Amino acid sequence: MSINNEVSKRKTFAIISHPDAGKTTMTEKLLLYGNLIRSAGTVKGKKSGKFATSDWMEIEKQRGISVTSSVMNFTYDDLHINILDTPGHEDFSEDTYRTLTAVDSVVMIIDSTKGIEAQTIKLFKVCRMRGIPIFTFMNKLDREGKEPLALLEELEEVLEIDTYPMNWPAGMGKGFLGIFDRHGEQFVQHHPGDTETYIPNNELSNHKDLVENPTFKDAQQELELVTEAGNEYSEEAILRGELTPVFFGSALSPFGVQVFFDTFIHLAPSPTSRKTTTGPIKPDNEDFSGFIFKIQANMNPAHRDRIAFLRVCSGKFERGMTVRLARTGKELKLAQSQQMVASSRDTVDEAYAGDIIGVYDPNAYQIGDTLLVGKNMYEYDELPQFPPELFKKVSAKNALKSKQFRKGIEQLVQEGAIQLFRDQMTDAFILGAVGELQYQVFTYRMQHEYNAEVMLESIGERIPRWLKEEQVDRKLFDSGNLLVRDRNNQPLVLFRNEFALNWFKDKNPEVDLIDLFEVNDYT
Ligand code: G4P
Repeated sequence: MSINNEVSKRKTFAIISHPDAGKTTMTEKLLLYGNLIRSAGTVKGKKSGKFATSDWMEIEKQRGISVTSSVMNFTYDDLHINILDTPGHEDFSEDTYRTLTAVDSVVMIIDSTKGIEAQTIKLFKVCRMRGIPIFTFMNKLDREGKEPLALLEELEEVLEIDTYPMNWPAGMGKGFLGIFDRHGEQFVQHHPGDTETYIPNNELSNHKDLVENPTFKDAQQELELVTEAGNEYSEEAILRGELTPVFFGSALSPFGVQVFFDTFIHLAPSPTSRKTTTGPIKPDNEDFSGFIFKIQANMNPAHRDRIAFLRVCSGKFERGMTVRLARTGKELKLAQSQQMVASSRDTVDEAYAGDIIGVYDPNAYQIGDTLLVGKNMYEYDELPQFPPELFKKVSAKNALKSKQFRKGIEQLVQEGAIQLFRDQMTDAFILGAVGELQYQVFTYRMQHEYNAEVMLESIGERIPRWLKEEQVDRKLFDSGNLLVRDRNNQPLVLFRNEFALNWFKDKNPEVDLIDLFEVNDYT
């Protein structure tokens, strides 16, 4: 089969949501369609010791949250599906953000009883900046929630995106009758016990009880209103990320999930060209290329190894192939390649653009690395880094364990779990993270995976600003505003607070202070 045929079968997406909106529940249901799990370890089971397949890491089991993004692959309707799970907890947004660079579309789950929540807004912004098509699933319709019209209005106002309801609910909570499937021109009727039947629009008149129900009539009127006054359906606008198709349902029941998935999976884009340093590369380009968006050490305690997650961007991957690492020009053999369903791994012999595979990392890769074959040398767009907000000094509790300490820090930093800085004056290790939970995970992993207990000393919330090398002058910085260097030895100042930053700007207008978003060219 040609590369083009293979690529057009690929659908690679992430599911994003505010914690508790139902992302894990939805992921499980999709895995059930793919026959990947026989019985979903329902999220309810979290408390009873049974876990969702995607929440597999030890620490996740303890906390009942998703800390890292796992990748799941399955075949559905002759399509090759790659789902990237993303951590919902706000402290892990950096990991989540990076995952969004590896997908072609996003499913945004919203809790219809709560509407748009803080984390949804942050994640949404990243998708928007990258122009990723967004499909919305309004979840928990089995509960009394906000009115569908109010939800659409909120989505449009808060997220500034046009909406197009793909289906429309009749009732909610106990009075939930089902959904009008606009795309499939049918009514999906909900029955007690959470079963569903499909009634084509032209047969509805045979179901008098249903169509004469006031809830049904009200919903029908609302739908008419939406059809008249709402946005026009445009596949182009969806693919540009300017219009979001909205589905209503319940991931838990599940209700409306099958209709959602069948529609979504055919509308969601297959891989397209991606930007590189030498121009766009097409996914059906003969030569293999891809980039690493995540590195994870010790995924399986029985293996004690490092896995790099690679997004294939063009051509065909074959197990055992030799590729070049664009950053160094060095040749590497991709020997142990794997696809993953949470913690169980299968060897993968071939993969195409859009696929996400795990490759063994002989300690050679960094996040953002491009791997490729062929004469041309190029790199995929640099992965964005996100400014850390919370900083701590870190040292080894036991000086005799400094070797383990350094190795642990080096690997966890390379993995992108946390950011490392060195104090310009004292050379002390300073860590930066988006939130407190990241430090707890760091401490836990240092102890359990590297046998190195750490001491952390908070230096509080800081505002990092990068400097130009020629403008670094120790005299400019008092001890309150720390002068440090990042992993690439770039100088930056950790300002105590907004006031200190503004004060410095006033006193030293000639010094350029660069925000990380600008460093990434990411505004
Ligand atoms: P997350 O990954 O986005 O954080 O959410 P998750 O799927 O873990 O779901 C969060 C809670 O919401 C879970 O309850 C889950 O059962 C519930 N939930 C998910 N989808 C639906 C839905 O469609 N309807 C209803 N009613 N609930 C849903 P939990 O954490 O086990 O708490 P509890 O509700 O059992 O106390």
